[in-house]
Amino acid sequence: MKVTLDHIGIAVGDLAAALAFYRDALGLEIEAPEDVASQRVRAHFVPVGGPSLELLEATAPDSPIAKFVEKRGPGLHHLTLAVDDIRAALAQLDARGVRLIDREPRPGAEGSLVAFIHPSSAHGVLVELTQKATGHGPQATGQRA
Ligand code: CO
Repeated sequence: MKVTLDHIGIAVGDLAAALAFYRDALGLEIEAPEDVASQRVRAHFVPVGGPSLELLEATAPDSPIAKFVEKRGPGLHHLTLAVDDIRAALAQLDARGVRLIDREPRPGAEGSLVAFIHPSSAHGVLVELTQKATGHGPQATGQRA
């Protein structure tokens, strides 16, 4: 299984303050935001060469991001690993006794499939797996031979 770091999610409590740091002080470009309705979050991707940063803003008080910020304050929220075959990855992890939040992948941003691994099985880190929509299927990569 080929695994690459895709992005790092950062839970943000005050978007204007986060933009003042990442955009204005660091001079990074922020991509157009994308709403993930199912998670009640707005994701602002920040290209930084290679893996990106993802600034996560809650869009409702019951959003998982709102709860996270309320409990622990803003900060590192998850890291996302890209795999070529998310179903095979989940089966492999399950066979090893890894605690999965999602046993079945669900739709993510830009036609991707995503699934979360529970932090208790990942040494305190919330890990998201993603399989990109285009050109990353097991047949397309030839990595699994
Ligand atoms: Co993410």
